[in-house]
Amino acid sequence: MYTGFKHLHSGLAYLLLLALIIAVFYAIASRNKPFTSGSKKIALLGLVCAHLQFVAGLVLYFLSPLGLSNFSGEAMKAKDLRLYIIEHPLMMLIAVVLITIGYSRMKRLGTDSKKYKSIIVFYGIGLLFILSMIPWKVWP
Ligand code: HEM
Ligand code: HEM
Repeated sequence: MYTGFKHLHSGLAYLLLLALIIAVFYAIASRNKPFTSGSKKIALLGLVCAHLQFVAGLVLYFLSPLGLSNFSGEAMKAKDLRLYIIEHPLMMLIAVVLITIGYSRMKRLGTDSKKYKSIIVFYGIGLLFILSMIPWKVWP
């Protein structure tokens, strides 16, 4: 179980980064063009990858020896351990919430340029948060 979810979480990370980068750059390149159903699908792909990765991470948090079972005052003092207990999960949660808000606003907003802007800003900040908390020492 643990190994399976660890591989899933590790593999989905590639997919999520790729989907977010495509969504942000596509929105930047198209921002003065009409917002089509294709534009929405590209944003949706980023959202779905983010939600999937979040759920995989949440499951992993309960399975991994670096997750909840490692929660202690001692581990909090160790930089590398604290990353997995608190910093990584919390920052990723904020990032996924931002991406979801960006998608939700995109659906509601009236003009095409505002829709693109919602993706650029919210997906963009979400992507930066994700990049900031990936454990680069062990991944890719
Ligand atoms: C949504 C964006 C997220 C991304 C892009 C992401 C990415 C990653 C990556 C690349 C790794 C390293 C995997 C490896 O060693 O091969 C990792 C590990 C881990 N992540 Fe995430 N993660 C995300 C969200 C979460 C969330 C929300 C949680 C928990 C609630 C979580 C919990 C963990 C844990 C516990 C590990 C350590 C697994 C282990 O080595 O035992 N992740 N994550
Ligand atoms: C902890 C688990 C999850 C939570 C809390 C969550 C939350 C949400 C929320 C709040 C929205 C609404 C966004 C909007 O306003 O349009 C949403 C949309 C969506 N979620 Fe999740 N989600 C979760 C897991 C997943 C998973 C595992 C998938 C599987 C692929 C998924 C796929 C989607 C899709 C496709 C939409 C967009 C629906 C649309 O087109 O409007 N979610 N989710």
